Formats: sequence, C-alpha cells, structure tokens
Amino acid sequence: MKTYLNEGWQFFQNWSEQILQGAKGESVRLPHSVATTPFNYYDESIYQFVSGYSRILHLDNTKGKTYLLTFDAVGHFAEVFVNGVSVATHACGYTAFTVDITPNVTLGDNLIAVKVDSRDSLNQPPFGFVMDYQTYGGIYRDVYLEEKQGAYVANAFVQAFPRKPIIVDVKLGNFVENVTLKAEILDGDETLFSSVYTVGQNAQLSIDKSLSLWSVDSPKLYKLRLTVASDVYETTFGVRSAEFRRDGFYLNGEKFKIVGLNRHQCFPYVGYAMPESMQRRDARILKNELCVNAVRTSHYPQSHYFIDECDRLGLLVFTEIPGWQHIGDAAWQEIAKNNVVEMIEQYRNHPSIILWGVRINESMDCDSLYEQTNAIAHRLDSTRQTGGVRYIRHSHLLEDVYTFNDFNRNGATKRKLICKKDAPYLVTEYNGHMFPTKSFDDAPHQREHVLRYARMLDGVFAASDTAGAFGWCMFDYNTHKDFGSGDRVCYHGVMDMFRNPKWASGVFSSLGSNPYLDVCFLGDIGDYPEGVLGDMYVMTNADVIKVYKGGVFIRDYTHADSPFKHLPNAPILLDDMIGERLTTDDGIKPKNARTLKRCLAIIAKCGINAAPLRTKLAIARVMVNERLTLDRLFQLYNKYAGSWGSAANELRIEAFKDGKLFATKIIGSMSSYILYVKASSLKLHETNTYDVAAVNIVAIDQNGNVCPYVSRAVKLAASGAIELIGPDNIALHGGRFGTYVKTKGVLGKGYLQIDDQTIEFEVV
Ligand code: GAL
Repeated sequence: MKTYLNEGWQFFQNWSEQILQGAKGESVRLPHSVATTPFNYYDESIYQFVSGYSRILHLDNTKGKTYLLTFDAVGHFAEVFVNGVSVATHACGYTAFTVDITPNVTLGDNLIAVKVDSRDSLNQPPFGFVMDYQTYGGIYRDVYLEEKQGAYVANAFVQAFPRKPIIVDVKLGNFVENVTLKAEILDGDETLFSSVYTVGQNAQLSIDKSLSLWSVDSPKLYKLRLTVASDVYETTFGVRSAEFRRDGFYLNGEKFKIVGLNRHQCFPYVGYAMPESMQRRDARILKNELCVNAVRTSHYPQSHYFIDECDRLGLLVFTEIPGWQHIGDAAWQEIAKNNVVEMIEQYRNHPSIILWGVRINESMDCDSLYEQTNAIAHRLDSTRQTGGVRYIRHSHLLEDVYTFNDFNRNGATKRKLICKKDAPYLVTEYNGHMFPTKSFDDAPHQREHVLRYARMLDGVFAASDTAGAFGWCMFDYNTHKDFGSGDRVCYHGVMDMFRNPKWASGVFSSLGSNPYLDVCFLGDIGDYPEGVLGDMYVMTNADVIKVYKGGVFIRDYTHADSPFKHLPNAPILLDDMIGERLTTDDGIKPKNARTLKRCLAIIAKCGINAAPLRTKLAIARVMVNERLTLDRLFQLYNKYAGSWGSAANELRIEAFKDGKLFATKIIGSMSSYILYVKASSLKLHETNTYDVAAVNIVAIDQNGNVCPYVSRAVKLAASGAIELIGPDNIALHGGRFGTYVKTKGVLGKGYLQIDDQTIEFEVV
C-alpha cells in the first residue's frame, strides 16, 4: 500500500546544511513549484536555483520492514538525505525514482531532506543548449512510502494482446527463496481469473484468458493483482495490438488514422506543479472537447494521472525521453540512456502508449547513441515499436517508425520525400512556429490558423500511407527568451494557456461525436481590411446546416461544400449568402440573378477594386439586361454583400444531425455581453493532497459568441475553504482568461468571487 507523503513539507529557497539539522522553512504541500511564475513577461532565471525540502517521517515497528520512498518527479536534479545521510541522487526531472531508505531509518521521527537543483546549467537532458519551453523546478509530483515485509513484487510487465495468452513478467524484491504468488485478473470488483504459482526472483506467468479489447471507442481496462504473502501489487492493463506498418497505423488489426496534438505539462503560475485533477482534465479536454484520438507528451514522460486518464478514455499516447535538439557529452548521454530505461519500466503497462520516442526531439543523427537507445527499448519492451522525432529529411532510420516534424508544407508531405526507407511514417509536429496565433489576433489571422490545420490534416487523410499527425500544439505555453513573442509565451496552441479554445480547435472538435458548431469569422466588416470578410467557414459535425440571413432561408450546406475533400467534417465554405433572393425578393430573372450572385460573391471576397475586369463586365451586362441603375445596383450590393452588423443581415446557422436540430449559432450585432464563468468542478477533494479547480472566464454576447476585444480588468477573491492560485486582479486576453483555485486543508464551502459573480465550491 502507498502512503502518500505530500503533506508537511518545509521548503527552503536556498539549500543549506542547516536543513539537514532540522531547520524550519516555509510549510508547503506537494505538488510544489520552487517559484511562482507570472503569466508572462518574466525571466526564466526566477526558478533556477538550488533549493531544499524537508519533512519528518514517523515510523513505528520498523522491525523486519523495508521502506521504499518514491518521488514521482523532482525537477531536475535531486539528492535525497535521510537523517543527514545522502542516500540517493537522481538526474531527471520527468521520471520517478525509488529509494530504499531501510538502512537509514530508525523507530520514531526521521528527517527526510531533498536538495533540488532546478538550474538549466545541469549536465543532463534536456539541458545544454536552448529549449522552446520552460523547465520550472521542485517536487512537483507525488511522494509516497511503501512498507514491505519480506518478498514483494518490485515490478510486473503485462503483455496482453488479442487472441494470445497474457504474459506477465514479474520481478521480486527482497528475494530469499521461492515464494507463493497469487495472480488475479479483475474486471471492476469481479474476479475473472485467479491462480497460485511458486516463483523465483524473476518469473514469467502465462495466463490463458479471453478478455475484451481496449480501443479508442471502448477502452476496456482490467486490473492485475499479484499477492505475495501480505504484499499486494496492482496495475491496470488493456488488451490491444498497436502496429505501425508501411501503409499506416493499425489498432487491433484495423487501419486507423492518428489525429493528435502535442501537450506540454505546464500551467500558468505554478509551472509543472498541478495535482491529479488538473492532469486528468487535460486528457478529458483532448478527448471530449478537442476530440483528438492521440497525444504526444512532448518532450518528456508526463504524469501517470494524465496517462491513466488516457487509458480510461481511449486516447493513444506517444511518449518520449526528455530532450530538445541538443545532445551532450558522454555523461549526459548515459543519463539519456537511463531515461529510456526509466520511461519504459515505469510506463509500459499503460495500454494507451503505442510508441516509445527514443531520440532527443529534433536532434541530429547520432548513431552511436541511438543504436543503444533503440536496443534498450526493444530489450525492455519487445511489444512496442520505437520512434525518434526528427526534422531532417532522410536522416538515419534506426527506429521502427520514421517520426517527422513536418513544418515546411501547408499540407502533408509525401512519405517518400522524407524518408529513404520504405518505413512506417508518422508526422509528429506541424504548424506551431510557422503561424503563431494569439486569441486576440484579428479575424483574418485566426482564420488562416484554422485553414493551416485543415490543409495539413486534409493532406494527412489523403496520404493513405501516413499513419497520422500530431499538431503543434494543444495550448500556449511559457517559453525561454530565445522563443515566443518576447513575453515568454509561445502562442502556438489551439487553446490559450487556460485551455480556452481558439478557432483552430474547431477543426479538431468537428471530428468528435459531441454536437459541435462554430464559425471562423466575425460579422463585423471593421475587423477586415477594406471591409472584405473573405471566405466564411463553418466548423461542425452536423450532417447538414441551414443558413438564414436576415431571417430569410438561404440554403442548406453539407460537408460536400468544403474545399477539403479528405478530412472528415472539414470546415464548410459558405460561398452563397444570397440563395434565390435576387429573383424572389428583387424580381431579377434567374439567369441574370445567377450571374449577379456570382459577381457579388467575388466582390464580397476581394472587394470591388480588386474584382477582375470580367466580373465588372458581367455586372454591366446584367445592368443592361435588367435595366438596373447604379443606385439600384448599390442597394443590391449593400443588401446582399455588405451591411454586416445590421439586424437585417443577422446570420443564423442551424445544425442538424440525423434530421434533428442540435445547435444554432447566431452572428449579429452585439447588444450586451456578460462574463461567462465555468469551473472544471464545484466539488474538490482533499485526499492525498490539495485539489485544484480551473475556472475559465469568457466575455460572451447575447448570442453566446466570444467578444474578443473585451480586455477589461476582472477582480478575483477567494474565501472559505479555497484560495486563489495566481493574481487577484486579471485582464481578459481576446475576451478570455482564467484562474485556478486550490483547497487548503480544510473541508466545507469555498467561494470564488469574480467581479459581482460568486461560485460556490464544496471541499470534501
Ligand atoms: C519544434 C519543436 C517544438 C516546438 C515547435 C514550435 O521544432 O520540436 O518543441 O518548439 O517547434 O513550432
């Protein structure tokens, strides 16, 4: 059993030997970040120093017991002391490590201290050169203690595939002589299988049991329980096959297109230090809001809570060793190899993980290192393929899958142009720095952001031998001085830092089954050069949309009206805002009406000055045929192609699925707006540590549309059983922002005041 040790820590901004003598510091709970970071405009040196943590560990009845102390992550170099004695060091900020502290503990109080180095001058991955992300610092995941008496299961690797016996490789700790081991498979509380074995230190069990498959639509999980005397080891697992072949990716034997996003593990203000609920929430956003089927944990292994939620939801994961472009010296490379070992031994029972990344992201070829990382990966897990993310065409392929960051095209590149060998091919990044987009960028910019995603994914779907693609990236993130927009933010997300969606997220959300309808245009000409709106797209998963202008039905549109012919549910182009009205309302003969409609659409798109001569001549012909004066022509233009923002031109879009109306969107002039506030949860749990709720704040008009230019200040105040994370005075960015509240060790009601609105939370 795990005893969580997230409470009762003392934090010291500066490491000193007095910490080993029991000095008093600031009381903190884990996860903890060594520095609070502003939203933007700060220097990343603020979290780079050597700090310390300490805690009393009280032990009763130590006789015959083994004590294993696990740190799920310490950023970035940790030295652990027990009662003043250095017992372990660990050089990776993204993997867990376990220390057997048995020889150093005594009955009663023991002082655990951790020296934490979070400087980026460390000689270990990902450090040594520049990095396009911040690395923060601190004991930012859980710490727990396990007490063992006699032999125990130190590690078990479950290999479960369709129509094959389940193989479990078990490794025992404290091994003296053969022991009896009970293996059980459970489905919830129901025991499906139980058997007893006599095993040595390393055992392989083969269990013949037919189980349901794990898939993205039906992510069935089982539990394996191994019992040795009083020691119980449990792990979840799923039965599935995942294979990259030359012609694409296959899940459970069926071809499957991977549509994913890259995720960093950071949050505003607290860096990496967010508890379970926030880790799980990101997985839920990916699956249920962004509706992708895969995530790449760029550029390091991430929280087990996040990956566990991917297991539960059916979200495929590509995880990789820490690093960013730079390969260090021999000592550095030894650590990178050890990172492969830790990543695979710690994560291999997650069915969601389909590929190991064993190359430093975007590094140059280094065969001597990568031959070894691949060999280690294959030795520790012969069931999964390896990838290694590169941006160099035709680089050496030592991995099983050619994983490539395809930034240079607007639309997917053909596999054979990228890799010489006829290898499985997966795009691991695209867009990102090629088109940074802020939620407060203007409408034409944001539309182009949408179109770049649509073009790329259309190309990926068209290329049947491309396994899929991960976009860069899920949300904006704080970055180093060498990257981003000068304010330490990389605005590369399809969401902002608080996980508020930008328009581009609609390309992904349209792929889901939850009703989705949005547009990527504003109805106001003042946001467009020369007042020309240009192409208007609707993003939806409806079968059909009905478009009305000024209350008059214009026409039905379906996805056949999208210029993107391969991407499912691709953005629909509204290229006709007139319908039959030139004839029905204005008495123009159908043939002339068709010509005039075509011409007005061209003018609406490019403006009258830039309209081609043949368009102007066609209009002149219609004027002669219909005896239209110039005044009348302008009236028609204003009625059908201009006058945005007036009530008579309000646009209504109704979305239907299976004949039923599921959403309506109205784009018209705003008359009032409110701050729409949504908390990720109103019930917070004080369990193994504090809990956090994310609160999104969005200015919306009377039709529910975001008002992107509301940039006002908002006052926040927390009281009762919760406190704020971050400032109590914020300003909306692009009409959006957010905050976080955390529990503080007391139960009961907590209140968050947002200007004149109050949200009530319950802490249990
Ligand atoms: C890639 C890199 C990512 C990120 C991205 C921005 O080269 O792997 O970490 O920096 O560019 O587009």
